[in-house]
Amino acid sequence: MLHPEIEKRKTFAIISHPDAGKTTLTEKFLLFGGAINTAGAVKRNKANQSNTSDFMEIERQRGISVATSVMGFEYSGKRINILDTPGHKDFAEDTYRTLSAVDSVVLVVDCVKGVEEQTEKLMSVCRMRNTPVIIFINKMDREGKEAFDLLDEIEDKLNISLCPQSWPIGQGHTFKGVYSIYHNQLNLFHSDKTKVTDSVVKVNDLNDDALLDYLQEKEVSTLKDETELVNGVYGDLDVSLYKEGLLAPVFFGSAINNFGIKELLDTFIEIAPSPRHREAEERDVLVEEKNFSGFVFKIHANLDPKHRDRIAFLRICSGKFERNKFYYHTRQDKKMKFANPMDFMANEKSLVEEAWPGDVVGLYDSGNFKIGDTLTEGEKLQFKGIPSFSPAIFKEVENMDPMRTKQLEKGIEQLTDEGVAQLFVMQPGNRKVIGAVGELQFEVINFRLEHEYGAKCRFRTLTYSRSRWVTSDDKKKLDEFVKRKQQHIGTDKEGNPVYLSDNDFMIEMTKRDYPDIDFHTTSEHK
Ligand code: G4P
Repeated sequence: MLHPEIEKRKTFAIISHPDAGKTTLTEKFLLFGGAINTAGAVKRNKANQSNTSDFMEIERQRGISVATSVMGFEYSGKRINILDTPGHKDFAEDTYRTLSAVDSVVLVVDCVKGVEEQTEKLMSVCRMRNTPVIIFINKMDREGKEAFDLLDEIEDKLNISLCPQSWPIGQGHTFKGVYSIYHNQLNLFHSDKTKVTDSVVKVNDLNDDALLDYLQEKEVSTLKDETELVNGVYGDLDVSLYKEGLLAPVFFGSAINNFGIKELLDTFIEIAPSPRHREAEERDVLVEEKNFSGFVFKIHANLDPKHRDRIAFLRICSGKFERNKFYYHTRQDKKMKFANPMDFMANEKSLVEEAWPGDVVGLYDSGNFKIGDTLTEGEKLQFKGIPSFSPAIFKEVENMDPMRTKQLEKGIEQLTDEGVAQLFVMQPGNRKVIGAVGELQFEVINFRLEHEYGAKCRFRTLTYSRSRWVTSDDKKKLDEFVKRKQQHIGTDKEGNPVYLSDNDFMIEMTKRDYPDIDFHTTSEHK
């Protein structure tokens, strides 16, 4: 039996392709959970998608994302921690890292657009860790794809089995609501954007005449046919398969209209996993272990450029975290204590005295932390599961102010420690190459270097568009490869060799020429 404090925690993220409704659903969860009173309280955590040069937007973003990094609230006796993920695709890597700190996810799919590019990428990251997924098909008030077609598309593109928990009646202008298959109840749709509403009609089954008070005969018969098919094709929900990340329960609703949320939240509370054990390089760490351990998955710069302190977000994995107790920073091999750790309840920050596995605490940091750092009570541990992914754009840093070389180096080092982008060092000349997912990251780096470090640089675009971490069982062969391909080799922050390439074809050719070398798409590989 888990300690009740651990058992009651549900730490998860809501993820989606931009615009599918992640922010709206997050807000509605807080609304239903009683953590906020009115809709509109959660600010849009989105950079302006169309204008990447809007620095004010970037700054505003940073302000919002500190406030909404973690949103904790109590619901039905559980402590729910929603970890926020950035909406903008250029910050995808931030999202991937946040996914390392959750125990499950709710994936939002827009019923009009179906599975989009970012949906697939996010899902593949969930796959890497077998993260349990619940799917919410949103915007049912709009004319979208047919429910069966959507399910086929999701199963096919996301490569996961589905199990619908409710079934829509009509769609768009004919949308009447959903029928909850396992509770035999009709949830009637009516548009209400501001408050929590509940119009549930309990029926015995689909032959109950009471249905005809709300639906037309034709609607009832279509519903009967379709749910019969659903039962036949998808069967009952096997919660253990869900927990292994192999089967996703599906709900239909409309987040903006508060519709389908309560049902989703109630099922989430019932089936979503409590904190689970975590793999460290050295061993598996169980949540119920007495000794505290945790890792940093996100670092946020302070908004005030005069103070270079930052907030490191620590996910607690085992034991109990206590304020003012000395903990062991395993990478730096030193003891540290935290006088002002922060807890996040809804949108309020407060001082935390103790925190449990599943919780995230914010630690003020003056440059001691880097993404992936582990804290323990003395044991040397390094948690796994926070890999770097191949960036898509590579640019070399050119110093524009030789008098400020030191500041530039420090700035680049610290910003890449924070995970703003990846740093590769290339020879000869210790050239610094920044790898990023999108242009916006370069803008952020430029802007912050100038404002926080007083350094100026220019970025020279390189032809590379992929990276592969290279290893080999034969050290000599690896050294030889690195030497031969020197102009394509960068060293990442951990000192590992990375092969930079223009395209997949080049990678394939190189693989063929060097059969003893293993090429990995992420920095973490078995
Ligand atoms: P994101 O975080 O995934 O990027 O999406 P977000 O919640 O910001 O929602 C994107 C747009 O979709 C918003 O409209 C939002 O109001 C709308 N939306 C969310 N849920 C539903 C729904 O159930 N039905 C319909 N019809 N629309 C929905 P917007 O115009 O971009 O922003 P706003 O002006 O409404 O704030």
